[in-house]
Amino acid sequence: MPFEPEEMKLGSLTLKRTAALAPMAGVADRAFREICRSFGACYTVGEMASAKGMHYSDKKTKALLEIGEKERPAAVQIFGDEPALMGEAVEKAMEFSPDAIDLNMGCPAPKIAGNGGGSALMKNPLLAGRICEAAVKASPVPVTVKFRKGWDQEHVNAVEFAHIMEESGASAVTVHGRTREQFYAPPVDLDIIAAVKAAVSIPVIGNGDCDSLQSVIHMYQYTKCDLVMIGRGALGSPWIFQQIDAYFTGGEILPDPPLEERMAVMIRQMELACQYKPQGQAMREARKHAAWYIKGVRGAAGFRKESGTLSTLEDAKRLAQQVLEKNRESRGILD
Ligand SMILES: Cc1cc2nc3c(=O)[nH]c(=O)nc-3n(C[C@H](O)[C@H](O)[C@H](O)COP(=O)(O)O)c2cc1C
Repeated sequence: MPFEPEEMKLGSLTLKRTAALAPMAGVADRAFREICRSFGACYTVGEMASAKGMHYSDKKTKALLEIGEKERPAAVQIFGDEPALMGEAVEKAMEFSPDAIDLNMGCPAPKIAGNGGGSALMKNPLLAGRICEAAVKASPVPVTVKFRKGWDQEHVNAVEFAHIMEESGASAVTVHGRTREQFYAPPVDLDIIAAVKAAVSIPVIGNGDCDSLQSVIHMYQYTKCDLVMIGRGALGSPWIFQQIDAYFTGGEILPDPPLEERMAVMIRQMELACQYKPQGQAMREARKHAAWYIKGVRGAAGFRKESGTLSTLEDAKRLAQQVLEKNRESRGILD
């Protein structure tokens, strides 16, 4: 049942206290974000965009900043390691009218952290603070910062880092309860999220391994966080947001939708992706989504292979049909 209060304030925004969609580069694009929002995600954050790329008006970077009206309230996320460039990037991002700006200080990828951005900023909290200040100064909308537990187990500094972000004007922080060294390996440390929540007065968004209603409830109860953010748990199952919303607003526990509906959602997502991107690119990217949507169905191994070859929307529709037929047959419905 709902946790009091039922809403979270993010600057002037009011977010329903259910669950937000995490930023996921190469995965949580506009199509997927809109689908998650349609199932009740209370807030979405876009794929990380490079401040340098924005400086050079790189087309691909700009495309990452587009926000659809159907996904609001929505933030765009920016990464970089130079305060002036980050301030400039925030100003440029306003062209896309984001509801908030999120600063990426948690990305573990060598391409980003190896160049001083993302999680590498956790090793340099003073520079991170200057970046946050520059972003806040340039932004007419709330600025939030997403980071991790620390760089490694010997350098766990999320609490100190959160304090610095608060002092630098951040409106909220998101804490992923893992170190950079862990990348995505278990376990997620909920105690560090609880410690950050207890230490700062701005809202704290808890993130890491929430992939079910139960794990979301546990994150809220254990850490006392203001909002829960879901990443991988929504891949191939965006209805997780509906299950969370139904529980928090009416105490209802919803089962997973039937396979027919799951396949229909997959196709709807791919249709949207083809609207927003060239079909070739959209369908290449859709391959991994297809594999997530068919996880656990009868014949999944074979279908996964097929999903790796999708190149048109028609291919995807055929795949969905085959999945449905195979699963009907094996339940004896077609016999
Ligand atoms: C494929 C992928 C891409 C990601 N891209 C981003 C990103 O662009 N920005 C970011 O802050 N975090 C990114 N993350 C991290 C997630 O936002 C999230 O913090 C992490 O996956 C833990 O949450 P989860 O256990 O709910 O997935 C990414 C994660 C994945 C799996």
